[in-house]
Amino acid sequence: MSILVTGGAGYIGSHTCVELLNSEYEVVVVDNLSNSSEKSLERVQKITGKKPKFYQGDILDQTFLERVFEKEQIESCIHFAGLKAVGESVEKPWEYYHNNITGTLVLTDVLKKYGVKNLIFSSSATVYGDPVQIPITEECPKGQCTNPYGWTKSMLEQILMDMQKADDEWNIVLLRYFNPIGAHESGMIGENPNGVPNNLMPYITQVAVGKLECLGIFGNDYETPDGTGVRDYIHVMDLAKGHVKALKKIEEKSGLSIYNLGTGVGYSVLDIVKNFEKASNVKIPYVVKSRRAGDIAACYSDASKAEAELGWRAEYGILEMCRDSWNWQKKNPNGYE
Ligand code: NAD
Ligand code: UFG
Repeated sequence: MSILVTGGAGYIGSHTCVELLNSEYEVVVVDNLSNSSEKSLERVQKITGKKPKFYQGDILDQTFLERVFEKEQIESCIHFAGLKAVGESVEKPWEYYHNNITGTLVLTDVLKKYGVKNLIFSSSATVYGDPVQIPITEECPKGQCTNPYGWTKSMLEQILMDMQKADDEWNIVLLRYFNPIGAHESGMIGENPNGVPNNLMPYITQVAVGKLECLGIFGNDYETPDGTGVRDYIHVMDLAKGHVKALKKIEEKSGLSIYNLGTGVGYSVLDIVKNFEKASNVKIPYVVKSRRAGDIAACYSDASKAEAELGWRAEYGILEMCRDSWNWQKKNPNGYE
């Protein structure tokens, strides 16, 4: 039996494939490579000595998905496939709603048809909007998202919860990721954004490697200790391990569960710059700019539910996250090209 990993060639997906293969799971990846390269899977094979099966195709394509299910014995699905660029989602809302929501509806229809009612879904801390309480627990009410990408996550959570309520044969885990950074310690796989990065860590690593000149810090007048935005950065390998733990949970026929995957610690933008400089020995020039629309001051998790129920907690510290992000970027200045 195999685990179907949609979006498995992407950043979090490829790292999760490593953890799955190292935990003796058979892995079948489906990805349309719209935001990734098949090379990530070749590297996964180099790291683990095992080859994930790969089908290039789109989760919107029901016939394609059914072909995969005909060929493979799938027991559970980890669903990463989706578009994730916040700014782009504002410009192309239809594309985001169609790809992320219709794609998930097609996928779950096929899962249902083949009797595979075990699903782990990549959600996001973005569903909390501007959180009413920090640290954020899973009971914290969901909020207003500031962009279509965020709404796709919030709406998909609702859709999956409703499906599970109507049919309790479904075992569904919604994982709300905080801010994934870092890379596999080999430096062979990592985050490979298209064009100029939107997110903080890939922007910093591209400044460090000389591809970009200077970091812009989006605001230093927030109500945070140093005025810059505070987030809960989590090492992507910790995140990957969280998925393996969630699979174990699903194997116990767990119904619906929701977990925050974060460290529980908030770092400001300036903290990240300082820690990155320490880990890499490279100076990061920066200028303070105005706030970015839609950003909130602070967001970090209470991750105790995942620890209590999954036996999972983040292990890597911020210096290790910075070290591994840098190691990947340094070894692959142009990503997988
Ligand atoms: P990613 O872009 O690296 O990976 C997503 C993968 O899905 C890519 O390989 C892409 O080619 C594939 N894909 C997209 N649409 C597809 C489709 N219709 N059919 C088949 N494949 C398709 O992104 P990531 O950072 O690895 O994120 C994985 C998941 O986690 C996404 O759902 C994302 O929204 C979610 N998430 C990411 C973050 C983050 O900061 N990286 C935070 C919270 C949640
Ligand atoms: N920041 C800068 N300069 C940059 C980029 C970011 O100062 O060039 C700041 C932001 O203002 C924010 C912090 O760095 O304070 C982190 O920003 P990111 O863009 O890296 O991450 P966000 O918290 O804005 O959002 C990310 C993903 C979302 C996801 C969310 C929670 O982009 O999709 O984490 O998981 F929903």
